[in-house]
Order: sequence, then C-alpha cells, then structure tokens
Amino acid sequence: MDHNIFHILVTLVIHLQDQLLVCGQECRLIGKFDLHGFVESKNHELIIGGLFPFHFRTIYNNDTESEESRSLKCEGFNFRALRWTRAMMFAIDEINKRMDILPRITLGYQIFDTCFTISKSVEATLTFLTGQNETHPNFRCSAGAPLAAVIGAGGSALSIATARILGLYYFPQVGYASSCSVLSDNFQFPSFLRTIPSDSMQSNAFASLVSHFGWPWVGTIAADDDYGKYGIKVFKEEVERRGVCIAYSETLPRIYNKVEIERIVSKIVSSTANVVIIFSSDIDLSPLMEAIAETNITGKTFLSSEAWTTSALIAKPKYFSFLGGTIGFAIRKAEIPGFQKFLLDIHPEHGTDDLVYEFWEEAFNCTWPTQRGAFYTNMSIEATVAGRQRNISPTLCTGKEKFSDILNTYTDVSELRITYSVYKAIYTIANALHQLDICVPGIGPFPGGSCANLLEFEPWQLMYYLRRADFTVFTNEKITFRDTADVAGYYDVLNWQWHDNDTISFVKVGEYSSVVDGSKYELRIDNNSIFWNTQNGQKLNAITYRLIGLCVRYGMIELDTIKLFFVRKYLTHCTDSFSDARECITCLSDYWSNTHKNECVLKEVEFLATDEALGITLIFLAVFGASLVIAFAILYIMYRETALVKANCRSLSFLIQVSLVCTFMTSIFFVGKPQNWSCMARQITLALGFSLCLSCILGKTIVLMLAKRAAKSKLAEKSSPINFKPLYQKIVAATGLTIQVGICTVYLILTPPFVYKNMESQNIKIILECNEGSIEFLCSMFGFDVFLAILCFLTAFVARKLPDNFNEAKFITFGMLVFFIVWISFVPAYLSTRGKFKVAVEIFAILASSFGLLGCIYVPKGYIILIKPERNTEEIVGGKAATNDKSAPATSASITSEVNSTTISTIALDD
Ligand code: TRP
Repeated sequence: MDHNIFHILVTLVIHLQDQLLVCGQECRLIGKFDLHGFVESKNHELIIGGLFPFHFRTIYNNDTESEESRSLKCEGFNFRALRWTRAMMFAIDEINKRMDILPRITLGYQIFDTCFTISKSVEATLTFLTGQNETHPNFRCSAGAPLAAVIGAGGSALSIATARILGLYYFPQVGYASSCSVLSDNFQFPSFLRTIPSDSMQSNAFASLVSHFGWPWVGTIAADDDYGKYGIKVFKEEVERRGVCIAYSETLPRIYNKVEIERIVSKIVSSTANVVIIFSSDIDLSPLMEAIAETNITGKTFLSSEAWTTSALIAKPKYFSFLGGTIGFAIRKAEIPGFQKFLLDIHPEHGTDDLVYEFWEEAFNCTWPTQRGAFYTNMSIEATVAGRQRNISPTLCTGKEKFSDILNTYTDVSELRITYSVYKAIYTIANALHQLDICVPGIGPFPGGSCANLLEFEPWQLMYYLRRADFTVFTNEKITFRDTADVAGYYDVLNWQWHDNDTISFVKVGEYSSVVDGSKYELRIDNNSIFWNTQNGQKLNAITYRLIGLCVRYGMIELDTIKLFFVRKYLTHCTDSFSDARECITCLSDYWSNTHKNECVLKEVEFLATDEALGITLIFLAVFGASLVIAFAILYIMYRETALVKANCRSLSFLIQVSLVCTFMTSIFFVGKPQNWSCMARQITLALGFSLCLSCILGKTIVLMLAKRAAKSKLAEKSSPINFKPLYQKIVAATGLTIQVGICTVYLILTPPFVYKNMESQNIKIILECNEGSIEFLCSMFGFDVFLAILCFLTAFVARKLPDNFNEAKFITFGMLVFFIVWISFVPAYLSTRGKFKVAVEIFAILASSFGLLGCIYVPKGYIILIKPERNTEEIVGGKAATNDKSAPATSASITSEVNSTTISTIALDD
C-alpha cells in the first residue's frame, strides 16, 4: 500500500515537473515515437534495457515532406534476433532464481526493436533515458522500476549512435554483437562495454588467414556502415603490409539498389581474384547473395566475417553452389543448458507482446485470429500492425502449431554465439549490480569509503563496477574488460562444407586465439579438413595462372622456380612490376614492366657493345696504339744497327714492344658482350702484359742503377770498368714474368672470373659484367704489377742522372709517373661509374698508361732515329760528345760529366 502511494506521489511530482517544463516554455509536441518490444517491469526492483533488431529494416518513406513526422514502420521479421532476446530473458530469469547473485531483488526488462536502423535505435535510447515516449531529455520520468543498464544495440552503427547518447549520461551500455573497432575508444564512448571481441582482432585474423593460404590477390566487400568500413580498412592496412594486393574494394548499398548490386556482382565475376572477403551483416549481404545466385559463378572462395558466418539468412540451399567452401570467423559458442526449453516456451496466448503474434504468424505462415479482424477492416492484404508491415496469410493460426514441424532459425540452438554473448552481457550487468550490492559501507570505492545504494545508484557508480568486472560464466569463460571496453579475443574458424543432400554444415577447422596470455594471437588451421569450392583448392589461383601464362609467352616455364613477389597495390609504387588496374605483381628478374605497366618486357641488357660509338672509339684507340708500337718495332728493326737501338738492349726493347701491343689489345677484350672466356682473358692478359713490360723496364733500370753506382765508385776509386752482362737484365725480366704467370695460374684454377648479371644496381637494366671471382687474387695480381712499377720508378729515379746523352732512366721515370697518375686517378673514377661506363673507364686507364709508356720510352728514341739521325752515333749516345741542340730530348745536364763513356756503352751493348 505504502509502495503504491509512494509511486503515485512520485508520478505526481514528475508530472508537475513535466507540466512546468511544458507550460513555462511553451512546448509543442513535434513527433511521437512508435516503439515495439517486450516489457516486464512490474514487480521488479531494477530493469535492464535491451535493443534488438526484430526487423531487418524500416520501410523507406520517400514522401517525408508532405507527411507529419511519424516514426518509421519496420518490416522483415528476424527470428534470430528473437532468439537473442529470449537469451536475455532467459539469463534474467536465471539470475532472478539464483540466490547467489542479487538475492534481494529481481530484475525486469524493457526491450525495444531497433529495426536494424539508427533512427529506431536512437528513439529507443531516448525512451530508455526518459522513461516515456514523448521525451524530455535530461529527465527520466517513469513510474516503473529504475533502469540499471542497457544491452545492445545489435549492429555497430546502431551501438555507436546509442552509445553517443548514453555516454552523455555515462549510462552503462553493454554491447553483445557490436564489434566495430571504434567502439573500443573509451574517450568517445565512455560508458560502452561489450562481450564480443573488437573487429581489429578479426581483421588481423583475416590477414593471417590470407597469409596462411598464400593468397596474393583478394577482393573485399564491405557493408556501408561502421562495421563493414572499419573492418575492411583495418584488414587492408594489415594485408598490404604483408604484401597482398587488393583486387577491388566494393561497398554494399545500404538501401537496395539493383544497378549497384549488379555492378558489384560483375566485378566479382570478372576479377581474377578468387578470394572475396565480405565484412557485412547478413541483413545487408542478402541482396548481393540473391544477385550472385542468378549468375552461375563458381570458383570463388568467400571469407565471411562473424556477422554472417553462421547466418541462416545466407546459408540457404540455393546459395550453396557458390558458398560451399566459405571460410569464416565466428565468435565463441556455447550450449546453454535449459535454453532450448525456454525458447519453445513461447505462445501468443501467454502474453500480450505484439511481437509474439507476429513471430507466430511468420513462423507458421498463418494469421492469428484476433489480429485478422484488425487487418481486414480496411480490406487490405497489406496490413500495418504492431508498427510493421507484412503480407498476411489467408490461413488462420490455431495456436496448436508445433515447432517440431518446422525448421526455424529461432529454435535452432546448434550455433549459439551471439545468443551466448547476450547471455554474458546480462550476467556482466547482474554481476556488477551484485558487486555494488555487496559493497561494505566504510570500505566502499566511492568518496569517503561509501557505497552506492542498489535501488538508487547513479549510472557512473554502476559503470565503476562494470569496468572492473571479473567473473567466470558457467562455460568457465572468464569475463574481464582490461583497459579497453573489450573482452579477450577468440574466434572459431568455420568452413562451410557442402553435402550432396543439399545441406551445409559449419565445420570448425581451426581457431584464432591468444597464445601468450592475451597479447599474441595466432591462427591455427587444419588444412586437410577444409572443403574447397574451387577445383584446385587454394593452390593455383588466377594470378599464378597469369604468371605462368607470361612465362610461357617468354618461353621460360619452370613452375617451381617461379617466385612471386607481390607489391603494394598503388601504381606509383609499382615501378619494377607490371600492373593491371590496381593489381600488380613483380616481373621475373629478367623482365621489367613496359611503359603502360601492363606487361612484363625483357629488361635491357647493358654492356659496352662493339657497335656503339664509345666501343668503336676505344677499339680504334687500342688498335692505333698497338700499330704505333708495331711501327716502333719496325723502326727498331730497320735501324737495329744504329747506336741508339743497340745501346738500348734490343731484345728487351722488343719484349717491351710486345708487351705494349699486348696491353693495348687487351682493351679489346673489354668491349663486347662479356663471356666467361673474355672475362678471364681480359684480366690475365692485362696483368701479364703489364708485368712483362714492367719487369723488362725493371731489368733495364736495375742495370742502369748498378751502372750509376759503379760509375760513382769508379769516379772515386778510378778503378777499371765493370762489365754488366745483358743476361742479368733478361733474368730480372724473366723472374718478374714468371711470378706473375704463377699468380695468374693459381687465380684461374681457384676462382676464375665469370660473367655476372648485375640486376641490383639498376632496376630497368641488367648489367652484364664480369665478376672477378676473387678480389684477393685480382689485387695480388695487379698489386704485383704495382710493385714492379714502384721498383722501376725507384731504380730509374736513382739512375736518372746518368751522364749519357740519351738518358733512358729519366724517360722511364717519367713513364712510371704517368703510369702512377693514370692508375691512381683510375680508382675513384672506376668506383663512381656504373654499368658499361665502368668498363670504359678501365679501358681508358689501360690505354692511357700504355700510351704513357709508349710516349715516354719510345717517342724520344723515334725522334732521334728519324729526325736527328746525326745524333745517332755512338759518341753522342754514349755521352762522349756534346750536342749543341738544347731542345733535343737527349740533352741533359750530364753532358759535361766526367764519367767514362765507354763504361756506359759497354753496359748498354747488346750481346
Ligand atoms: N558484428 C556486427 C556489427 O558490429 C553485428 C552483428 C554480429 C550482426 N552478428 C550479427 C548483425 C548478425 C546482424 C546479424 O555490426
């Protein structure tokens, strides 16, 4: 009695407040909500709100301007959502019966239909907050029990809309199906929690799945809502990081649009991508499936997101031909004991909830008699009742219809996933309320150690307990919400296995779950138990075929050596690959994309060719140099009896000439397409040529140096002339050459140079070059040449002031200097050029040093032989007589030297 009076008083006060609000500010009713659902709030101390999509959509009204503002009507009965709702009722019922949770009070519920639309969800949310249909924000006026929390709404878009409103009041909301990753944001959605894992985890799981099967090339389809868009966005980011290309990215229209759906279907059909990832709710997806069923598409593997993986709306026999083999993720499933019995305990006669009538009529395809009268008053078969529109059946329901006679999603308890999630959501709230209830004053969590009152708490107080939820459900699953609003992620990997008798079963073939205590996630799949829709399973997909096609076209089919590297989808990033629309693959190593980037063409092969200007010039210079040397040799032969030629050790001179011809001609080995033999020949002949040349020069200079020493000591001691045997010179020359031949032989045997295709230094070209085999050997080979050159230089330098009129030592010194300068400048030039120019630089160095030696050693002699024959006498060459021609190259300060010229001429005389 007291209770009733209290209620009347409260209602009165609220009404007064209401009137004040309305009268004081002249308010006008601008619209009415039209909400349907289930209410059970009487005789309960607290109620929990619920938002469920009992209908698939609202009826699209394109005549909104002319009509007064009216809440939209809904259509398409959703049996699945009714099952979810029944799970909520079941859980509440269970909790009310249990003595260990909330023993002092019982819970009631208030459930609204969201019609899977945002507007209806918002209507319902406002109604929750205000407790009445004509809402005044910021007040809750309701005669019934206070609302503790809300569960729902189904889809993420709906939850986002409602969570924004509930968040204003910090009103607790627990989502059971809304998985969109943005809902994890505590800042935007401060009072939202959920019992389904976030999609960021699911998108990662998809990426792992794609990597697992090595699919290089996939298409994506997203629902036009937060769920689809964010899901695919995270998936794409993840998958592109792993080098997978996205063939196409389509968005399903929100409002049915035939043209658009057909465009998407043709995209799926025509694309070479055989794997399609669909992030959508079953409701948004069914028009697409309907359209696909009209084509005879096969060979595509669909990957399903958790919202449609086990949906009866999609798993219809007429789709099996193309949906068999689908692989998808599904949230955790459970068998809820006693739930089936509870589900069957529904009958229009047991209550007055209009949705139950509609359910009965839809399930048994009949019309409930009491409803029928209402419909036929306006003689229309299209009737509007309970806020939804439907075609009514001419048969009347008897009330004796049996669930066992029909196959219905509602009664199917084989895949209780979202249902289980709803159950957990209710338990989460009940547990938080229980924690709030058992709080001990004085050590409570609120200011001053206070506790909240179970019947009069503030939303944020319940929120406090919800965030700290930590309990286990009957399945032993632990529910905690860590730092974010999310529970730990877990997915079953289900495969749609198609059986001949036109049934399909969802077989668990793996799972995606945490391996290290909630931090690291891993996909485990049993490949062998998968049913594939495509003939070759996942192995050969279109792109591989295309690549094989390409290879066949280029006559290089070697299936197992084909390496595929898939790069990012953006054309701008596809510089070394061919791309077709947004697909792109890397061409095989010898190929390169054409200018249109739609085909692989053979890469240009670069080397210094014999028919290009640079090559021709270099060959010409080499031949010119060699002919000059030969000309000098002829000259020497012609003037072999003259003093100058005789004085210069004819046989050594001849050897030097041979070696110079040799070095000039090696440069020809550097031009033209490198072959293994030419790679070997070029280094060896060069090293041998130089070592022969330098050791002959060394032979000469050593003798000259010794002569100088002897001359000096002779000057001092006035002793008898020393007779140097020309044999010594030859021994020196032969030793030098032998050592070099030894090095070369070992080099050729152990690590011979070979042709090498350099593909790294330039993308667009293959540079054909010689690989030296072993740098150590190469260096010791040329190092030996350098060593000889240094010796030549030093010995010649010592002997440069010998007092003969034709001072060969001085010219050798010059020659060596030129040689050094050329090779020293060669190093940086060589290192800073690429490709064929590198070879050209090397040839230049060879030519320049050879010309240097030729110029310094032979040109002065040629000058004397040809132009100043009068100086080609033993007296002048030997330095006994002075010349008066100052400009002659042979003149030197040593003309007046007192050295005994006969000594010198003896040294130089040939045998
Ligand atoms: N996860 C979906 C979302 O966030 C909602 C969802 C899950 C759903 N299962 C479903 C919607 C089944 C419809 C049907 O939007």
